[in-house]
Amino acid sequence: MKVTVVGAGNVGATCADVLAQREIANEIVLLDIKEGFAEGKALDIWQKAPINLYDSRTIGSTNDYSKTANSDVVVITSGLPRKPGMSRDDLIATNAGIVKTVTENIIQHSPNAIIVIVSNPLDVMTYCAYLNAKVDSSKVFGMAGVLDTARYRAFLAEELNVSPKDIQAVLMGGHGDTMVPLPRYTTVAGIPVTELISPEKLDEIIERTKFGGGEIVKLLGTSAWYAPGAAAAQMVEAIVRDQKRIFPVCAWLNGEYGLKDIYLGVPVVLGKNGIEKIIELQLNTEEKALLDESAKAVKSVMDVLDNMNVNA
Ligand code: NAI
Ligand code: 2OP
Repeated sequence: MKVTVVGAGNVGATCADVLAQREIANEIVLLDIKEGFAEGKALDIWQKAPINLYDSRTIGSTNDYSKTANSDVVVITSGLPRKPGMSRDDLIATNAGIVKTVTENIIQHSPNAIIVIVSNPLDVMTYCAYLNAKVDSSKVFGMAGVLDTARYRAFLAEELNVSPKDIQAVLMGGHGDTMVPLPRYTTVAGIPVTELISPEKLDEIIERTKFGGGEIVKLLGTSAWYAPGAAAAQMVEAIVRDQKRIFPVCAWLNGEYGLKDIYLGVPVVLGKNGIEKIIELQLNTEEKALLDESAKAVKSVMDVLDNMNVNA
């Protein structure tokens, strides 16, 4: 299996490192526009192989897409990260130009690739890639829910003093402050979380999750990369190993949840064909209202992109 990661910055390099370390692909190409940057990171990852004992071959490329030819999966992380005080939406114009060019190059060299978008603003960059890839929406989707759910699960594990491995959760909606954590679908080793935690504490954790990206930006002066890189790699693993894992993924909706023509986070089955199924939960009135509100927020940014005419 061949996997390309575009953008050798914090998230892209971390993703490539996890892919190599876990031998998720035997060939990994890291590509960046900055001269020598991807080659340097790829070489470093490759030189770690004899120490940590893996044999995934990692190579770098400065904007030479011929090296990415016939990739099975491509992760797009190229773009600017969010700086303090900057909303995800501020990034739209710059990152849309980058995502458009990258997607066109990728599809030209790997017409059958499954594309996982990471660049922000996530839901809208995924839409941008879809418009420019011109392939079925089951093959173009975004990573956000795996990360947002991981943050929620980590906070819960800390509060309950249990292993994060035992926390299962679903989170829906856009990758932003309107995301919709679903306590009704959150369990701790099968036990409904509401039996283990007070409603007040749970609300606090949900609020912290919604602003989880911003919390790290404030601390670091740039956005997170360890968890985002690992989250993207986990999605790649589900695809290349045809695992049929259920993850919240930013997917194109065509009537599911009463929503149409929008990219939004929903639970899906991920396997060798990309999104193999969108799972439709029976949301209650309150949950559906929150999802609709989130969809409205995402749609308004999709409209901004449509009005910029950056797409083909
Ligand atoms: P970074 O600045 O460390 O890396 C971005 C890389 O993209 C740079 O090395 C840059 O040279 C490269 N790049 C820019 N234009 C390019 C082009 N046309 N072709 C190839 N490479 C190009 O940024 P970081 O921290 O890795 O974040 C990357 C993106 O991921 C940002 O948009 C960030 O907001 C987003 N992000 C999304 C998350 C999510 O949950 N979806 C989580 C964390 C970050
Ligand atoms: C995050 O959630 C900024 O989207 C990025 O960490």
